[in-house]
Amino acid sequence: MNNVFVFDHPLIQHKISLLRDKNTSAKEFRELVSEISMLMGYEVTRDIPLKEVEIETPIGHARTKVISGKKLAFVPILRAGLGMVDGLLKLVPMARVGHIGLYRDHDTLEPVEYYCKLPEDISERDVVVLDPMLATGGSACDAVKVLKRNNAKSIKFVCLIASRQGIERLHREHPDVAIYCAAVDETLNDDGYIVPGLGDAGDRLFGTK
Ligand code: PRP
Ligand code: URA
Repeated sequence: MNNVFVFDHPLIQHKISLLRDKNTSAKEFRELVSEISMLMGYEVTRDIPLKEVEIETPIGHARTKVISGKKLAFVPILRAGLGMVDGLLKLVPMARVGHIGLYRDHDTLEPVEYYCKLPEDISERDVVVLDPMLATGGSACDAVKVLKRNNAKSIKFVCLIASRQGIERLHREHPDVAIYCAAVDETLNDDGYIVPGLGDAGDRLFGTK
């Protein structure tokens, strides 16, 4: 599938294994989500445009390159996407952060929207949607719909663990959205959880049940 990127870097794979382990504490879980997000951010930002500048080194002139100032927005899906924000902001501290609040109805598994606050100039920014889990794909598709309704034009979706079904649905409904993930799992259980996955990402991040 074009537009789908699965990271196989050993550091990312190692940290994903620790993340999946049910004995990993909430503190370690939060740290791992942040670290993996930062490592993924390195590739997700690979196409940021550069511009040439001239600077003086202590020895002479250099024509060299800096980021051109193309604007980025990180948009976590509440709650669990919040855990990915600080890792990415370490790489791009000038990025703006929007928030989309969605929860999955436990019976229908359909996403319910309860909050949306985006940067005013979202249409001019490259938008990176953050959510550790892409399960049925309902939340991701809804978040992208909300962003498009707000005139966002350039959208990427970054998750940690994706189900095959979630990738197929997001790709089918929004083929223009590139999908980045660190692992692809084959199945969902009857409650819509990714198997083997890592459990409920929001609960594990925030120590709720
Ligand atoms: C989780 C997860 C995604 C969604 C994925 O959030 O963080 O947003 O489920 O499932 P889907 O692909 O089937 O839509 P949840 O609804 O549990 O809310 P929370 O982050 O507030 O715990
Ligand atoms: N949301 C989660 O947090 N985990 C899953 O496995 C599926 C949806």
